[in-house]
Amino acid sequence: MKVFKAISPLREYLAARSSAGQQILFVPTMGALHTGHVSLVERAKADGGEVVLSIFVNPTQFNNPEDLEKYPRTVGEDLAAAKEAGVDCVFLPSVEEMYPCGDKATVSLKAGKMAELWCGASRPGHFDGVLTVVSALFNIVGPDKAYFGEKDWQQLQLIKRLVLEQHFPVEIVSCPTMREADGLAMSSRNVRLSADERLKALCLSRALEFVSQGIGQQLALPELLQKARVMIEAEGFEVDYLAVINDEVLPAETAAEAVRVLGAMNVGAVRLIDNMPAGFSLNVTDVNQNNM
Ligand code: PAF
Repeated sequence: MKVFKAISPLREYLAARSSAGQQILFVPTMGALHTGHVSLVERAKADGGEVVLSIFVNPTQFNNPEDLEKYPRTVGEDLAAAKEAGVDCVFLPSVEEMYPCGDKATVSLKAGKMAELWCGASRPGHFDGVLTVVSALFNIVGPDKAYFGEKDWQQLQLIKRLVLEQHFPVEIVSCPTMREADGLAMSSRNVRLSADERLKALCLSRALEFVSQGIGQQLALPELLQKARVMIEAEGFEVDYLAVINDEVLPAETAAEAVRVLGAMNVGAVRLIDNMPAGFSLNVTDVNQNNM
């Protein structure tokens, strides 16, 4: 597995692979790799080509300095996991390499209407930072395909728009959320939960499942969401948002236009998000198991 910290040799290497007829298949990450990331690599590998994984904790997408500071950084383990998963090439840039004029980048992309609600409302500027870094990474790596998890649903929709509106010649492949055996969505942030918080954190996926299964049944969307809020608050957590959205990532007015159920909650200083399609079942048999 090749590891590049600098852009020029990475570009040279990938140009040669591309000339040799290999598709460039790109998995961008912020490290702290878990099974969810490995599933993106596996999906890329199944497509056949040069699998490139980037590890970069992007400062411009953190609106909270404490969150940036506490974001897990596990490069040694990440490189071992990437190798084990069959990654061909890792891009591991420094902040200086990615932002040559400083991380208060001179030029920044601005996410529009699709970023106004949900995570965009709670984390002002977050999606501007995501789109700016993803655009820079696409320019550096020049992928044929790029793989993103559905867990960050709003991010995924914005990246699809980035590609459409900025005319990047890349296919975005969306990959389903990986879950622990008890239904908790996998996240690099989960390691920051105490054992008790980890167990109780299940309330998010269960509340979303409740709403998802209730869409189009007896209760109207606002009532479903209110009951879901109570399920989370009963565990002592603060709801950031709960929503049923349409395909523009705006609140669904009716069950017929409901595409996805989204939620975010704060577990102390740890912010967890999750989402699922309408009518989704977690298929969890034993909600008490803890497979972290
Ligand atoms: O989803 C992530 O891990 C990050 O937002 C991404 C897409 C790698 C950009 O930093």
